Amino acid sequence: MTTETLAARAPRADLAGRRLRLGMVGGGEGAYIGGIHRFAARLDDQYELVAGAFDVSPERGHAFAARNFIAPDRSYDSYQAMAAAEAARPDGVDVVAICTPNFTHWPVARAFLEAGIDVICEKPLTATLADAIALTDLAERTGRFVGVTYTYSGYPMVQEARAMVARGDLGDIRVVQVEYPLEWMATGIELQGNAQAAWRTDPTKNGRGGSIGDIGTHAYHLAGYVTGLRAEAIAADLATFVEGRALDDNAHVMIRYQGGARGLLWSSQVAIGQSNGLRLRVFGAKGSLAWGQEQPNELAFTPLFGAPVTIKRGRDDLTEATRARTRTPPGHPEGYIEAFANLYAGFAAAIRARGAGRPAGAAAEGVPTARDGLKGVAFVEAVVDCHEQTPFGWVEPQFA
Ligand code: NAI
Repeated sequence: MTTETLAARAPRADLAGRRLRLGMVGGGEGAYIGGIHRFAARLDDQYELVAGAFDVSPERGHAFAARNFIAPDRSYDSYQAMAAAEAARPDGVDVVAICTPNFTHWPVARAFLEAGIDVICEKPLTATLADAIALTDLAERTGRFVGVTYTYSGYPMVQEARAMVARGDLGDIRVVQVEYPLEWMATGIELQGNAQAAWRTDPTKNGRGGSIGDIGTHAYHLAGYVTGLRAEAIAADLATFVEGRALDDNAHVMIRYQGGARGLLWSSQVAIGQSNGLRLRVFGAKGSLAWGQEQPNELAFTPLFGAPVTIKRGRDDLTEATRARTRTPPGHPEGYIEAFANLYAGFAAAIRARGAGRPAGAAAEGVPTARDGLKGVAFVEAVVDCHEQTPFGWVEPQFA
């Protein structure tokens, strides 16, 4: 499809007054993240799932579609067939969610962007930097929306942390500590039939960064999202602890941020006892913040010379963007699904606003887009390059 045809499809004034029509690639039976996307898309009633190429196996994909009440003529053998057919329908999908392994993100995104359809893409944006550049470039050239599901930026208290840093509550940022340890790949489960681990440990499907690409990219985005800091240089030490594994399963990265702040990022797939231990701590000249995704309704703030304060989700004195990401009163816990739904709400607001030529509003403030995804892939590539190429300058301590 040509750029002229794309221009003819936009802006879509008919988006007002109806749910967005959502398609999905991947996310079929037994897949992980596709189900989370479907829950998230339903939570605010902004989307209706109407089409999909849900599985790499067409038969399994059709069976899954039937169980999920997708019309048979909108369950497709392939994403290519889906992009072409949906673009040709007057009631075709407005946006497609890409929930497939990393190496497919770019070809799938390309098919839909070229068909004039907006994209919600899983992280990492792509498996290679060249693909990420091409995807971002195509999105910007065609004027299509590409949202990237950096899940953790959807949490209300992450939003509040971001607002506090921007407001100067912490003063100049000095130190950023972020870690994302997981335990699920502490043994060679990729050789024992675990589908998710199998592609994640295959460089041709996952990309060059193992733990750093899979979860380090979340940690890197979270740190940058909250602090607004941009990396100036990184130094990295990767390790592979599980025998025979082709990619890193543990990474330590030192980050020098522009302006002088220092960061330390740890990602690990072999951290026994850590179910989902994403944690961020930010230390400034006037105070510090701490947030962890296993207790996401609370944000710890300690002012210089002051007592530690626990800031709780749902209170009326939080910022508008934080309150826009909150659905239940304080004391009723919200979590992962709601955070994911906040991204979907932000994407919907951005897509609708663009269609109508108006500002997107608080719900879409800071929602991750292709350019954020590109930064994430560039970070992963830099980490692996550093580990592989740079003589790091290790120094053996005396009396070790
Ligand atoms: P998975 O292995 O559980 O599911 C992948 C699905 O894609 C399967 O249904 C498979 O049949 C399908 N698929 C593969 N190639 C296809 C094709 N050409 N056409 C149609 N379907 C195809 O993988 P998982 O764990 O759900 O990960 C998928 C993506 O989501 C990855 O990029 C991963 O990094 C990301 N992810 C993001 C998370 C987040 O927190 N935002 C959490 C987990 C995964």
